[in-house]
Amino acid sequence: MPDETAPPVIMVIEDKKSMAEMLAKTLESEGYRAVTASSGEDGVALAVKERVDLVLTDLKLPGMSGLDALRSIKEKRPFLPVIMMTAFGTIETAVEAVKAGAFDFITKPFYTSHLLVLIKRALDTGRLEAENFVLKEEFADVLGFPKIVGRSAPLMEVVKLVKKAAPTKATVLITGESGTGKELFARALHHLSTRASGPFIPINCAAIPRDLLESELFGHEKGAFTGAEARRIGKFELADKGTVFLDEIGEMDLGIQAKLLRVLQGERIERVGGSEPILVDVRVVAASNRDLAKAAAEGRFREDLFYRLNVFPLHIPPLRERADDIPSIARHFAQYYCTEMKKQQLHITGAAMEALVAHPWKGNVRELANCMERAAILAEGGEITPDLLGMPVPVEAYVSKISSEVPSEAPAEGLQAVAERAARGAEIRAISSALAACQGNKTRAAEALGVSYKTLLTKIKDYGIV
Ligand SMILES: Nc1ncnc2c1ncn2[C@@H]1O[C@H](COP(=O)(O)OP(=O)(O)OP(=O)(O)O)[C@@H](O)[C@H]1O
Ligand SMILES: [Mg+2]
Repeated sequence: MPDETAPPVIMVIEDKKSMAEMLAKTLESEGYRAVTASSGEDGVALAVKERVDLVLTDLKLPGMSGLDALRSIKEKRPFLPVIMMTAFGTIETAVEAVKAGAFDFITKPFYTSHLLVLIKRALDTGRLEAENFVLKEEFADVLGFPKIVGRSAPLMEVVKLVKKAAPTKATVLITGESGTGKELFARALHHLSTRASGPFIPINCAAIPRDLLESELFGHEKGAFTGAEARRIGKFELADKGTVFLDEIGEMDLGIQAKLLRVLQGERIERVGGSEPILVDVRVVAASNRDLAKAAAEGRFREDLFYRLNVFPLHIPPLRERADDIPSIARHFAQYYCTEMKKQQLHITGAAMEALVAHPWKGNVRELANCMERAAILAEGGEITPDLLGMPVPVEAYVSKISSEVPSEAPAEGLQAVAERAARGAEIRAISSALAACQGNKTRAAEALGVSYKTLLTKIKDYGIV
């Protein structure tokens, strides 16, 4: 496992050997690791192949100029900060360098202290830039990492394992039913790791069409395929020094699985249509609600990838197997939604809590959260009573009730009946969520649904929506 606390690596591109050696020595005495390159060409090659966190380059070099080296490096590693060293009198070129993406320039001769301040700032900014880019791309959760609620023994086991796995670079495979908190724990792993200040990039493998997933993960070069009008930086490159969360990995195409395996083994990625491998420092956390071992045995998932991902398995038990967590999670979400809706805090009555603890929660914590949101909307008089808990269930129940209206021994259902049944199900869902969104206000819900108040009332009555 690579050392997560390794010092930043600074590459010095300088053709004058004595100057390169002097700089390397100074940097190492400050706790950095220094590598040197004596030409622009060598520097560019090193920046792509080796771990480099900052480049310090001379402007005047034999062969490729420092400015061209800068452009080439920025093209391949957009977030790698570059500081340009220039001789007195070349200020115009220095300005050009900054325009081409250099972090800053420093005029020779310079004070070491000045250079060290610049380096420190550049290293911090490089990280921030990558994060901001990610923020814009992902509309990342501004609230950051939410709290993990629950103190049941099975949940504490998971928390213990998360704490053990976090400081390592081991690949973690999180399994568990839908809504158990797989993404939440993936974020916790990232936040507890030494990569916490790096980006956390989630990718839902099931939500991206197969043809686009490869370029989404690894990026592509301009013209790599029809429609690739510009270069695109992939999620693995964006996640440099951070964590990539591959959600629903069981849905990943076998061809991309092979490419992912190569990345996991070599820590290098290749953009679609690109010719050079690019070094990335990424920790991979994957999640699946499918049994991947079984999928691998049946040939639907690559066995070698499964073993590579499963270095550190983390199973999150379903909520019904840790019913001790239900009261605290229910109270947590009731409080959360009341605060959000600026409503008075609600007390969950004993009978309501009993019903909550007894419920099977097939949708796990997410279903419980939804149930509390609806109860919070409906509650009057400061209490959540059992009659308020029915909300999320009826929607499903009505749909299944409608489904069961078709006798099972009936001959193949006519298309019209299928369409009508589907439409009724869809209407019930739309009405329920409109009511929830409008906090039970039927006038506003009717407006949102584009029907008259009377039509909405009739439908609510017909479908028996509470
Ligand atoms: N222990 C917990 N404490 C507080 N909130 C939780 C807990 N577990 C899950 N949640 C919340 O429940 C919701 C569902 O969790 P999450 O999205 O992590 O589940 P998931 O396993 O990734 O689900 P899916 O398989 O459907 O993607 C989220 O809003 C999450 O913050
Ligand atoms: Mg998820």
